[in-house]
Amino acid sequence: MKLRKLFGAAAVSAMALAMAIVPASADGGKVGVCIYKFDDAFMTTYRNALEEMLTEKGYEVSVVDGKNDQAEQNNQINNFITQGVDALIINPVMTSAADQIIDLVKTAGIPTVLINREPTAEQMAVYDKLVYVGCDASQSGTMQGELILDTENKGDINGDGKVSYIMIQGDPENIDAQLRTEYSVKALTDAGVEVEELDLQRGDWDRAKGQEIAQNDLTKFGDEIEVVFSNNDDMAIGALQAIQAAGRTVNEDIYLVGVDALDAALNEVKAGNMTGTVLNDAVGQASGAVEAMEELLGGKTYAEGEQSIYVDYVKVTPENIDEFMN
Ligand code: GAL
Repeated sequence: MKLRKLFGAAAVSAMALAMAIVPASADGGKVGVCIYKFDDAFMTTYRNALEEMLTEKGYEVSVVDGKNDQAEQNNQINNFITQGVDALIINPVMTSAADQIIDLVKTAGIPTVLINREPTAEQMAVYDKLVYVGCDASQSGTMQGELILDTENKGDINGDGKVSYIMIQGDPENIDAQLRTEYSVKALTDAGVEVEELDLQRGDWDRAKGQEIAQNDLTKFGDEIEVVFSNNDDMAIGALQAIQAAGRTVNEDIYLVGVDALDAALNEVKAGNMTGTVLNDAVGQASGAVEAMEELLGGKTYAEGEQSIYVDYVKVTPENIDEFMN
């Protein structure tokens, strides 16, 4: 990319031939992509989409696994900087580490797109070649609440005048987990529906933990549970296994909602085993991230307060499910 800017594409190709070296990529530059951990269902879809788009555009892409360890990710960022990448796309391990990450990329002057875990506007304001592409998590929480409000009894299956729920939360350090937890319930209370929280447990976005939490709660609270809110689909699929093992039937004696619209969840919504989910648009966010990266590479800078670019969530129900299935 840098060479291309200085000499133009044709000249660079000629130089590469003359020097008998094959350039790393015909058209693009080098892009380093840091993912918080590979072992995450939604981020796997996201990273595959990102890698495919960047490769198709001719960039030399290297995608690394932060293994849910911020120190490891800091090393990876430093390695990319040493290798002279033209741009970075980073899914931070910890939102609270945003200052360190921004400091590293700013010092190196690398244009950077942050994805999936949103820092505050103040944190981003220190570096004008930095932008966040993601979603507004409160929107997905509100949509989960609306999915429950749209059921025939507004979630009050036993007719006792209140909706009794359990909340299976993602990683509580994560803004998506915090806002989905808050706004799903807020949608109900804003609509004048009384709620009762039977339990709230962290499931760290993980299917097995979702299953375990739901299993324990079903044993403890039994028929009292009318709604299972899960901050994501992978934990909801785990919860569904526990619900079925307990002999309960989704949409008859219990409701279950997730977020992401993973393929597995779409199948369950279609089959009536999940009340609904919310599309977390991995492809839309990946293409938004690539577009923002290219604008940064083209010299664009971002002013304070304009450094977050949002992609909309979409409610997924049995009525519109076919629009989302491959
Ligand atoms: C969320 C997504 C979760 C998990 C998390 C990781 O947006 O819904 O499934 O991938 O990001 O930060």
